[in-house]
Amino acid sequence: MTDPNIEPWKIKRGSCELSFDHPLICAPMAGGLDTPYRMLLHRMGCQLSFTEMISARALFEGIERTKKFYSWVPLKGYSGAQIFGHDAEYLSFAAKEMEEAGHQILDLNVGCPKRKVTRTGSGSAMLKDPENLIHCINTILDSTNLPVGVKMRMGYHHLEEKDLKKLIKDLQGTGLSWITMHSRTAFQQYSGTADRDLFSRMVSWGDIPVIASGDVRSPDDVKDYLKRGATAVMVARGHLGDPTWIDRAIASISGEEWTERYPQTEDQIKLQLTLLREHLDYSLKWYGEERGCIEFRSHFSWYLKRFKDRREYRNRLYSIKTGKEAISMIEEIENVWLGQANMTKF
Ligand SMILES: Cc1cc2nc3c(=O)[nH]c(=O)nc-3n(C[C@H](O)[C@H](O)[C@H](O)COP(=O)(O)O)c2cc1C
Repeated sequence: MTDPNIEPWKIKRGSCELSFDHPLICAPMAGGLDTPYRMLLHRMGCQLSFTEMISARALFEGIERTKKFYSWVPLKGYSGAQIFGHDAEYLSFAAKEMEEAGHQILDLNVGCPKRKVTRTGSGSAMLKDPENLIHCINTILDSTNLPVGVKMRMGYHHLEEKDLKKLIKDLQGTGLSWITMHSRTAFQQYSGTADRDLFSRMVSWGDIPVIASGDVRSPDDVKDYLKRGATAVMVARGHLGDPTWIDRAIASISGEEWTERYPQTEDQIKLQLTLLREHLDYSLKWYGEERGCIEFRSHFSWYLKRFKDRREYRNRLYSIKTGKEAISMIEEIENVWLGQANMTKF
């Protein structure tokens, strides 16, 4: 294993090259990485984030509400659009739409374990039909000039290592620009640990860039995946409620101290509250007041996870219906939280 470094890297397809200064990416998360939060993450230095997964069929059928998922593209950094489906015709249509909408990268979801997705043969269920998976990828590649990747699991229930190896070779043979591996099976959903040893072996099977996902909570996790040969690392649940995570993780990998329990100091708490207010503002503007408050509540509760007296507020959180009510709760929390500054144990 070599020493991991914060090095620039590229995503390539033909003459198209997208350049990154560091290897940290925000993973797609339906219900977690909506547009307002992506706006904040990109303002805080994120270089690549993804839309929530978008149904290729809904795009094909022109379902209006789907637009909210993909109609924003950052001014700084890159936007990946993630689509799901199992029908090559719908996926081809979706690929063209996403390119037209201005996204610079396209990702096919081959990992979602949710029943409502897998029962149609989409998401992780595509792993059960590799022939159709390869056919769909070839069709997508014929439909767009964007760099295309897949985000997959180690298997559905389980995949024999030789079968996984063959699948990786076949995926590489299509001309995909990268593979993202969430090193759990679909059966595991989001629990149990990601199989990092299998990840290391998988990287060695091909020469396609592999992006790692699964159990990324600290800079040590990032370093470990880089040591195992990952080209880049996706952070998912690790940054919910903390838009500073990527920046802090990069600083830590470059030698600065990592604060496990963040925020702690008065300045850190003030910054967190400023970002929380900004997040609310983006949410209200993007969705309108009623929907904006509903969508903001779950994010608010993730920010509160980092705060000692969260329980009392968490119970009241779900009654917030207006921007004014949200702001007044943030003000209430501000006083209590600042009083806890520099306490080491929350
Ligand atoms: C709430 C939630 C929603 C997710 N939605 C998606 C999604 O839309 N597309 C996708 O490829 N992965 C999705 N994921 C999986 C994450 O991108 C990531 O692979 C997974 O959470 C493992 O990383 P972690 O253990 O560091 O959280 C989701 C995960 C969570 C927790």
